Amino acid sequence: LTAALTVDPAYRVGEVDPRLFGSFVEHMGRCVYTGIFEPGHPTADADGFRGDVADLVRELGVPIVRYPGGNFVSGYRWEDGIGPVDQRPARLDLAWRSIEPNRVGVDEFHRWAATVGTGTMMAVNLGTRGIDAARALVEYCNLASGTYWSDLRRRNGSAQPYGVKVWCLGNEMDGPWQIGHKTAVEYARLAHETGKAMRQVDPSIELVACGSSSLDMPTFGTWESTVLSEAYDVVDYVSMHGYYQQHGDDRDSFLAAATGMDRFIDAVVATADHVRAVGRHRKRIDISFDEWNVWYQSRFAAETNLEVAATPRLIEDVYSVTDAVVVGNLLISLLRHADRVRIGCQAQLVNVIASIMTEPGGPAWRQAIFHPYALTSRHARGTVLQVPVRSPMHETAAFGEVPLLDAVAVAGDDGPVLFAVNRHQHEPMSLDADLRGFGGLTSAAHTALADDDPEAVNDRLHPDRVQPRRLDDPKLDGGRMLAVLPPMSWNMIRLS
Ligand code: AHR
Repeated sequence: LTAALTVDPAYRVGEVDPRLFGSFVEHMGRCVYTGIFEPGHPTADADGFRGDVADLVRELGVPIVRYPGGNFVSGYRWEDGIGPVDQRPARLDLAWRSIEPNRVGVDEFHRWAATVGTGTMMAVNLGTRGIDAARALVEYCNLASGTYWSDLRRRNGSAQPYGVKVWCLGNEMDGPWQIGHKTAVEYARLAHETGKAMRQVDPSIELVACGSSSLDMPTFGTWESTVLSEAYDVVDYVSMHGYYQQHGDDRDSFLAAATGMDRFIDAVVATADHVRAVGRHRKRIDISFDEWNVWYQSRFAAETNLEVAATPRLIEDVYSVTDAVVVGNLLISLLRHADRVRIGCQAQLVNVIASIMTEPGGPAWRQAIFHPYALTSRHARGTVLQVPVRSPMHETAAFGEVPLLDAVAVAGDDGPVLFAVNRHQHEPMSLDADLRGFGGLTSAAHTALADDDPEAVNDRLHPDRVQPRRLDDPKLDGGRMLAVLPPMSWNMIRLS
């Protein structure tokens, strides 16, 4: 298998917004409780947050975390989570049929975020609530003092406002499963008026309108155009959510999931730009891809009609090296669209379809998908470059003919970094890279994620079974690099 590509600074896409490497903490399953928060755990800090998890979050490199949901937010009363902990109510969360003890709320979450060094973005409840609760929350979080809600935050122990810049106007409001599900017209009016009031509290905030919950929603496209037509002047982003999994034994289609993500993004960009054109708007709407990951949703279907429980184990997918290669490729897709996708949140951070797993009272470890995320977040900083490839093609059931090689590059202070995936399950790929546009490159360091066993996973007993490996340095000669990408592999080649 042979392929060729060109990395050239002239093929600029745009600057990487660090928020592209965001994550997501929902009050769901064990993401918060026994995930980031577990008082009594041997590594817990004075606030009850797990130190071992905090260390892994720092290592993962997460510049922004979306909170508190997800479907959870559509029934959430944020006021339940503030003030003296022993006076907070335990509530039945209908999204996941879980008992929410409200031991972690907006104040604890922001203390945790400061500890791990991440920014935050928040979602407001447009399912069971609306304008009043949303504007009060912005006031609580972002105003310094002198008003009811800002002074209450100060009395609750946070003298400084949190300065939450990005706010999601609800979550997946197009989905019939959503508490307070709405038609596009109903949602658009509420989002517009809520956003308007929130911005009156703090004019510096950015607002995300709900797009479709997935490309497969029957209202996809018309939902976006209706919502944006109505709410264009108040929103800055439209959200995208996309989850991918292998269906049956069709691994080739799964390995091409990033092609599906590319097409999905292109379709939403086209829809937003259509609304812009029709409305003669100057402003451009960009994308907040604020839920994406591999998620074996077909397994979860069996878990509907959940028993009511406290801290249940929900959708704790264990990821294989195959899943990790796909996650690396999805990050390539997000980077390729860096001119329009400004925010990305992998869903979720801990235990729930997550990069980090924990055992209550026990260890925390990195899932296989942790690695491409951490390496991309650390090294994909700078200017994204489109990478034209000459690649063998193959046919997939889900996406038709797709290239076996997918790649993008990011030019940073230390030189360009190439991210590339060999989607062939069994054959290595000889790669011939034309780097002449950069001039003077003399060294290449090749790191790959690949394994002889495509099902290999990390678990509690074998937490480092899947990890990236340094391969032999590729040869560089006269602006040409020859490298070999292992079968079914995610690769990062740092050039200098
Ligand atoms: O991330 C899990 C769930 O997936 C979220 O709560 C919801 O927004 C999406 O459907």
